[in-house]
Amino acid sequence: MEKVCVLGAGSTKYGKLEDSITDITLQASVDAIESAGIESKDIKAGYISNVFGVADKQVHLGPVVMSNLGISDRPSLSIESACGSGSVSFREAYANVAAGFYDVALVAGVEKVTHTGTEWTTTYFSYCSDFFYEGQSGVSFPGLFASMARAYMNEFKATEEDFAQVAVKNHDNGLLNPKAHLRKKITVDDVMSSAVVASPLKLYDCCPFSDGASSVILCNEKFAKDHGANYIEVMGSGRGGSSAALQGREHLTTIPSTKIAAEAAFKMAGITPKDVDFAEVHDCFTIAEIVDIEDLGFFEKGKGVEAVREGQTKLNGQISINSSGGLKSKGHPIGATGVGQIVEVFDQLTGKAGERTVKNAKIGLTQNFGATGASCAVHIFQSV
Ligand SMILES: CC(C)(COP(=O)(O)OP(=O)(O)OC[C@H]1O[C@@H](n2cnc3c(N)ncnc32)[C@H](O)[C@@H]1OP(=O)(O)O)[C@@H](O)C(=O)NCCC(=O)NCCS
Repeated sequence: MEKVCVLGAGSTKYGKLEDSITDITLQASVDAIESAGIESKDIKAGYISNVFGVADKQVHLGPVVMSNLGISDRPSLSIESACGSGSVSFREAYANVAAGFYDVALVAGVEKVTHTGTEWTTTYFSYCSDFFYEGQSGVSFPGLFASMARAYMNEFKATEEDFAQVAVKNHDNGLLNPKAHLRKKITVDDVMSSAVVASPLKLYDCCPFSDGASSVILCNEKFAKDHGANYIEVMGSGRGGSSAALQGREHLTTIPSTKIAAEAAFKMAGITPKDVDFAEVHDCFTIAEIVDIEDLGFFEKGKGVEAVREGQTKLNGQISINSSGGLKSKGHPIGATGVGQIVEVFDQLTGKAGERTVKNAKIGLTQNFGATGASCAVHIFQSV
């Protein structure tokens, strides 16, 4: 297998955006191409992730994005894997570059939903659950993650204030990210007094609905050395699965797909969780971040909540978790999120993270899952 590098990265701001789904994908992709110091004609294939293109009247985004970049003759793949679509696209591009099919590939992720309003977006998103058992019974994602939160509280004596601290930390980080959706300082009291969405989760325990697009350029090592002053290497890539419906899982306080994906990625990278300096994890709800950092092996089961209480996951704490602001503050445009996490790792490891820089960081990890973790991908990167 060829060694695979990330040569460039770009992102729109996340939030409520006016431009069309195709325009924002183009903006992020042009940024990534410029950041890589290449031309669009250097790209041999495109992997485009999106979930509800139908909301902005455009599906089959692969060929549309390639056409807009002036490379309509190149193959593309339009990929949907719920909120984990972005990392699955990255994995497909990674596998094809590693296998030697292409020397350079574009990964772009996008979502444009806020114009449909909360009721419609909640309905659309519920189609990503196991709809027969969950969505059609009226359980939406806040409700499903609330079940996980209750189980975690019962098993590990965690409190709602503990969950609130995850939100406070991620909003603090998001304040330092000019592209974040919710750039607002909040306190534990703000979280505790915000509206209940699905008990015990309140407004500030939830990620928002966001629009946004993120893109990265992957290439083999030879191309990176010939073209890139600033690139990072992919050390490990892993994917895993879990029962689509929560009722099919043995425990609600762990996400099996994360553990499977992480084990594969760490094995490929030849490192352990202790070697990781920072991570972008899937904090769609505050409880998810606590479960993630345990499943990834950063903390023992049941100890993630203590780490949060002690501030170990703050920027430049023992391990910086979600320096970008995470889904909670940076935002969650679901088809873009997994790619956006890799943009953050690229920025961190190439000295472009500004005020939110993780000091002396050499190794960064991304973890992005679909739905309640039915599918997951983990990637590990190192600076060169
Ligand atoms: C939490 C949620 C229900 C809030 O929706 P809503 O009540 O319709 O909120 P609105 O969009 O009307 O926004 C009302 C205010 O709250 C803010 N807001 C919205 N969502 C927010 C969030 N998640 N966190 C903090 N503030 C939020 C808005 O900015 C707005 O503030 P303003 O009045 O100062 O402009 C919705 O964001 C949600 O369902 N989030 C989860 C998304 C999800 O499930 N994603 C998939 C994960 S698997």
